Amino acid sequence: MLVVHTKKELDEHLAEWRRNDDHIALVPTMGNLHAGHVSLVQLAREHAERVVVSIFVNPAQFGENEDFDQYPRTLERDTRRLKKAAADLIFAPDVATMYPFGLQDATTVSVPRITENFCGASRPGHFDGVTGVVIRLFAMVQPDVAVFGQKDYQQQLVIRHMSLDLNLPVSIITGSTVREDDGLAMSSRNQYLSDAERSKAPLLYEVLSAVGTDLQNGRRDFEGLEAESISKLMDAGFGVDYFSIRRAQNLELPDRDCDELVVLAAVDLGGARLIDNTVITI
Ligand code: PAJ
Repeated sequence: MLVVHTKKELDEHLAEWRRNDDHIALVPTMGNLHAGHVSLVQLAREHAERVVVSIFVNPAQFGENEDFDQYPRTLERDTRRLKKAAADLIFAPDVATMYPFGLQDATTVSVPRITENFCGASRPGHFDGVTGVVIRLFAMVQPDVAVFGQKDYQQQLVIRHMSLDLNLPVSIITGSTVREDDGLAMSSRNQYLSDAERSKAPLLYEVLSAVGTDLQNGRRDFEGLEAESISKLMDAGFGVDYFSIRRAQNLELPDRDCDELVVLAAVDLGGARLIDNTVITI
């Protein structure tokens, strides 16, 4: 497996693969890889002969008071994991490679509407940072397919919107969420949890799943379900940023007849922000 840091090295390997007519899949990450990321690499492998994993802690998507400095950087361990997962190449650029004009003068790509609520509301500028870095990675790697996780539900919708709207020649694939045995969605941020918080954390997915079951069983009082869920989480000591039942396709308010719903939530537990969701097809 190759590890490259510059665009020149990346271009050399990509050119060789293209001469062979190999299809290329890209899995964008910020590193500190866990089994969730590895599952995306495996999914990528099903769609292309070559799999590129990018590892870049993207400063443009972190707010001023967020965890950019604290975010775990573990390239050596990530490299070992990806070797085992049979990725072909890690692209681990520095900030100047990704933002040649500097962050202040970086071109932005902004997806409207779908970025306004939920994580977009609590983290101003976050999704512009995500679309900005993802479109740069797409331009550099020119992948045939790119794989994103359902765990970041709003993010994958935003990337799909951008790619369709701008006619980017890449297919977006979404991989399902990999969980710990107790249901907690795997996340690099789980390591910010103390032991006591970690043992509470699975409640988030329990509450999401319970709402999923209620919806399957025909409950349609969306606001009532949301309010009950928020109370359960707050009673257990979670700070609830949002807990919402929406149309899976575009995060708009559903009506009673909507047959594809997503229940999505973001909570604060101690110093960690946890997000998770469940999709229900009726
Ligand atoms: P990061 O948080 O490292 O996640 C990289 C990819 O892994 C994302 O597509 C995310 O949805 C997916 N992922 C995270 N946890 C997962 C889990 N438990 N199961 C399955 N997939 C999971 O998301 C980002 O990085 C960045 O915003 C990025 C897209 C790389 C742009 O900087």
